Amino acid sequence: VALPTIGPRQALVRVLAAPINPADLNVIEGKYPIRPALPGVPGVEGAAEVLEIGDEVRGLEPGARVLLPHDFGTWREAGVVAADQLVVLLADLPTEQAAMLKINPATALRMLRDFVPLAPGDWIMQNAANSAVGRAIIQLAHEAGVRTANVVRREELIGELRAAGGDVVLLDDQDLPERIKDATGGAKIRLAFNAVGGESAVRLANALTSGGTIVTYGAMGRQPLRVPNGLLIFKDLIWRGFWVSRWYREASSGAVAEMFRELFTLSGRGLLRTPIEATYPLQEVGAALAHAARPGRRGKILFEPNP
Ligand SMILES: NC(=O)c1ccc[n+]([C@@H]2O[C@H](COP(=O)([O-])OP(=O)(O)OC[C@H]3O[C@@H](n4cnc5c(N)ncnc54)[C@H](OP(=O)(O)O)[C@@H]3O)[C@@H](O)[C@H]2O)c1
Repeated sequence: VALPTIGPRQALVRVLAAPINPADLNVIEGKYPIRPALPGVPGVEGAAEVLEIGDEVRGLEPGARVLLPHDFGTWREAGVVAADQLVVLLADLPTEQAAMLKINPATALRMLRDFVPLAPGDWIMQNAANSAVGRAIIQLAHEAGVRTANVVRREELIGELRAAGGDVVLLDDQDLPERIKDATGGAKIRLAFNAVGGESAVRLANALTSGGTIVTYGAMGRQPLRVPNGLLIFKDLIWRGFWVSRWYREASSGAVAEMFRELFTLSGRGLLRTPIEATYPLQEVGAALAHAARPGRRGKILFEPNP
């Protein structure tokens, strides 16, 4: 692809790291509300280096590392982008971790802040606790003194997530609500995060206290959510949803800047670390996608240029 010449307010960037997130796969499958015009470039987040800037660009220099905007299509080697859509990274942020901050840790931060007021000592619950979002929730909650009951589908993750700061880590199974009750000393849990759907979501909902809130933000199990009538009649649960793309679209530029400041500060302190399983050059896109879709991954798959 021939790169366009840069306009006065644009920048030419070279992509340094771009993860494969589940939503990227859903976009490719045509199962996502965002349908890029074809031919299109997938990839909603990533970090890049600025190579050149247009004459009218201020506050950005060649050599700066930046986060790329949502609609750029980050699985590419280079591209031209409006300079005012780039977020400049602080010097002490590791590039790979920074490339993964905008979607998953941002989702964790927003969901912990925007649904139910939490105080130190409170409990929250989540399934898919080993996901990038789940791990960010564990780290952010731990930092705030909020305790987490974490649900996973693989036994080998129990010790690992406890070591990462999860207070309780349990396998997803029939008697989950009773086991959550036992493990949390009968805590009244007012907030749950669901990224699996199907029966797993209902098990979390059963463990909530009356009037509690369950926030669905993912559907990894690809099963519909069937809400038993009794959970509404007798417990009056609140069923909410969250989509970070909508948050970015609706938030003020000040709120977005404030969140990046917070994410960068936390990341600079060594928090919000997302494990990486492997990196691939773009030339090996098929192998990278197959790897990303494999169960039992121990971290994200990233595209990075050949050294
Ligand atoms: N709504 C939003 O704004 C928003 C933002 C960010 C992410 N998300 C969603 O959040 C979810 C997690 O994203 P991520 O990037 O954090 O994930 P990730 O790091 O790629 O990890 C995927 C997770 O899903 C689990 N999983 C996969 N298939 C499953 C199944 N059939 N049943 C139960 N668990 C299953 C995996 O379990 P194992 O560890 O056992 O393999 C793993 O923990 C995705 O659905 C994603 O689309 C939504």
